[in-house]
Amino acid sequence: ETPEFLAAFQARIDADEKIEPNDPMPAAYRKTLIRQIGQHAHSEIVGMLPEGNWITRAPTLRRKAALLAKVQDEGGHGLYLYSAAETLGVSRKQMTEELVSGRAKYSSIFNYPTQTWADIGAIGWLVDGAAIMNQVPLCRCSYGPYARAMIRVCKEESFHQRQGYEIMLKLAEGSPAQKEMAQDALNRWWWPSLMMFGPPDGASEHSDQSTRWKIKRFTNDELRQKFVDATVPQAQRLGLSLPDPALAWNEAEGRYDYGEIDWDEFWAVVKGHGPLNKARVAARKKAWEDGAWVREAALAHAKKRAARQSV
Ligand code: 3HC
Repeated sequence: ETPEFLAAFQARIDADEKIEPNDPMPAAYRKTLIRQIGQHAHSEIVGMLPEGNWITRAPTLRRKAALLAKVQDEGGHGLYLYSAAETLGVSRKQMTEELVSGRAKYSSIFNYPTQTWADIGAIGWLVDGAAIMNQVPLCRCSYGPYARAMIRVCKEESFHQRQGYEIMLKLAEGSPAQKEMAQDALNRWWWPSLMMFGPPDGASEHSDQSTRWKIKRFTNDELRQKFVDATVPQAQRLGLSLPDPALAWNEAEGRYDYGEIDWDEFWAVVKGHGPLNKARVAARKKAWEDGAWVREAALAHAKKRAARQSV
């Protein structure tokens, strides 16, 4: 790639033009998008597992229907994002094989267990809340198919976040035992939710280049801060306390200061040593293997149909 080619590409990005699948693009731009979109798709699919665990245990039919709809949405988001990644020349089979082999990354948050029904509220409220914070700017990503996929995804995420918050509100305003369950879930999901935004800016390998290419519109720490500032008042409205003694409003800066994140825990989970990493990958591997006969049958059917049509 000549310096002129790279400069012409950057000029298109700087002019806020959308890059489309058939446009000439630097190999590194393609590579980092396959990396990020693939991991985003994996996150959606693996993210179905913690919540799927509670579909048969939902306390009412209404909660069950809402959770079913949410998990179904996540599956759809995953397929949307795998399709966006395929426009860059990687196959879904390749991405799936990377996931089931344990080589692919997906969001650390989905390696934590959902121990009570309140966890389903905390996930909707905090995890989908954090996802929205991260996905809204991605609607303005320079790569067309990714930006367009995000517009549809963000519409559905706001329902996910609202149904989660409503579960937390019901519990927080319920019996003391219910309020305690909501507080316990908040205690366990708060810090892992902050880790969803990625390492601190100084340890973010991709941020600078992703920002120059307008893939990333805000840094990891900027989005994390926006999430904290938006979520603290919601926790106050719920009458729940956040598990961070250092959390305090900083009038001078107009933001909440918060405590130190345990980056050892973050990197351990990212590297596969979280509470449920092995179980999540094994569940995806089993689903892939159990579904092989469906893929084979569909391919055989398609081949027969093509043969019939060609006579
Ligand atoms: N979990 C796992 N890996 C993470 C991570 C996390 N929370 N945060 C960062 N990483 C990884 C990065 O992938 C990168 O590793 P790699 O080079 O092998 O890909 C490394 O840590 C360094 O991080 P960087 O900050 O340099 O990486 P990025 O610039 O890619 O920023 C990101 C990380 C902010 C997560 C970015 O990739 C991103 O915005 N991704 C798209 C959104 C996404 O994937 N969200 C995940 C949740 S999806 C979801 O919640 C679904 C909802 O419906 C619930």
